Amino acid sequence: MNLVMIGTGYVGLTTGVGFASLGVAVACVDVDEAKIARLDRGEVPFFEPGLGEAMKSAQESGNILFTTDLKNVIGGADVVAIAVGTPPKITGEADLTALFAVADQVGAYLDHEAVIVVKSTVPVGTNRRVLERVRVAMTNAGQGELTSLIRVVSVPEFLREGTALQDFLHPDRVVIGADDEVASRIVDRLHEGIVAPRVCTTIESAEMIKYAANAFLATKISFINEIANLAERVGADVRDVAHGIGLDKRIGKHFLQAGIGYGGSCFPKDVSALEQISGANGYTFKLLSAVIEVNNRQRERFFKKIIQELGSLKGRRIAVWGLAFKDQTDDIRESAGIDIAQRLHASGADLAVYDPQAMDNARRVLSDHVEFAPTAIDAASGADALVVLTQWPEFREVSFQTLREAMVDPWIFDGRNCLADLDLAKYGFKYQGVGLGKYEC
Ligand code: UDX
Repeated sequence: MNLVMIGTGYVGLTTGVGFASLGVAVACVDVDEAKIARLDRGEVPFFEPGLGEAMKSAQESGNILFTTDLKNVIGGADVVAIAVGTPPKITGEADLTALFAVADQVGAYLDHEAVIVVKSTVPVGTNRRVLERVRVAMTNAGQGELTSLIRVVSVPEFLREGTALQDFLHPDRVVIGADDEVASRIVDRLHEGIVAPRVCTTIESAEMIKYAANAFLATKISFINEIANLAERVGADVRDVAHGIGLDKRIGKHFLQAGIGYGGSCFPKDVSALEQISGANGYTFKLLSAVIEVNNRQRERFFKKIIQELGSLKGRRIAVWGLAFKDQTDDIRESAGIDIAQRLHASGADLAVYDPQAMDNARRVLSDHVEFAPTAIDAASGADALVVLTQWPEFREVSFQTLREAMVDPWIFDGRNCLADLDLAKYGFKYQGVGLGKYEC
């Protein structure tokens, strides 16, 4: 099958490369000429483990090409997938400008039967609006008689940054939201190299599955963070509570890691969008407002814990390990790590920061007065405290003896509890995590 993938961000590029690695002929299209040129040279413009190698072998096998010229490639497409961003407006509502612009372009060039697949996360009802836009553009281009041969299918993605290619090739399910059997079968055939249950449903249900999935995962995170906050009042250890409830198959062990809360380009956006969609449809989704509030407050609580223990930060050298919104990515969008680093800087601290992958992205948003250290130990050298904000595995591998000798005051504030099991007291550290027993705040 021939696939045109429009949009080469985390979702579009990973999905395009994934399909190409399964033998589908893929043309990836983007308006960004510089990005397309980089991709054509085999360079992936963001950190995503394994994606560069997979892209290189897909290029060598001739299964993938990169172009800015949609008109030139759309002619042979069986499926045209759209994976452009739907960023939040100030109201939380998804901004569909880019999506509809692409729909108009597709309609202007489409001159044969094809399936339009929408991979972007969109409010319920948007897929139908995309189809309408495509059909209007086709009619304006003189192809009105073909519009009935065009179908739209909602195929939401569930890719996590850092494991995106793996998540594409080995998903828990493939959701196919279609109006008719023909379109559903074409999309199912496109995914023939992927062994996973198909959830064949209506377009609206598929659109809702995406938001419900992310909102539920975000709810799990805010729930365990509330439990962590209560654990500090009653003297429980949230890690054991998470373990104890996670063994219940109805709950599951994943997404029960307490800390400074969720960030990234999806959870914050999608939870807010779902809250906005609910309101726009006359329904007050009470739980979502609490999930958002808890998540925002979790960062504040952790920051206050640092102030409570250290007092004024003016002129104090504070080391920050981790700026990416999670490990295995260089993405700092909505990162709790960046948020807390900015609060520390605003409080007068003399910040030295280190992240294995996100330094270049962080330089664009952190103050010029922040020191960007070459290694974790360099960042901690001379520091009054170390604040860990992203759970990069390498932070567990440092020599804690060397770290202790490098620091002036042996405070460690661990926003991800990722060092909690290392018994750092034996090196002379004072350690504070999140929800790890009694804490008087
Ligand atoms: C998420 C969804 O998992 C994915 O299915 C969807 O397609 C896109 O959004 P992503 O945002 O890439 O993926 O990362 P994820 O691993 O879900 O983590 C999101 C945030 O939650 C990160 O900031 C992470 O640190 C935080 N998190 C995750 C927790 O705080 N606790 C956890 O237990 C798990």
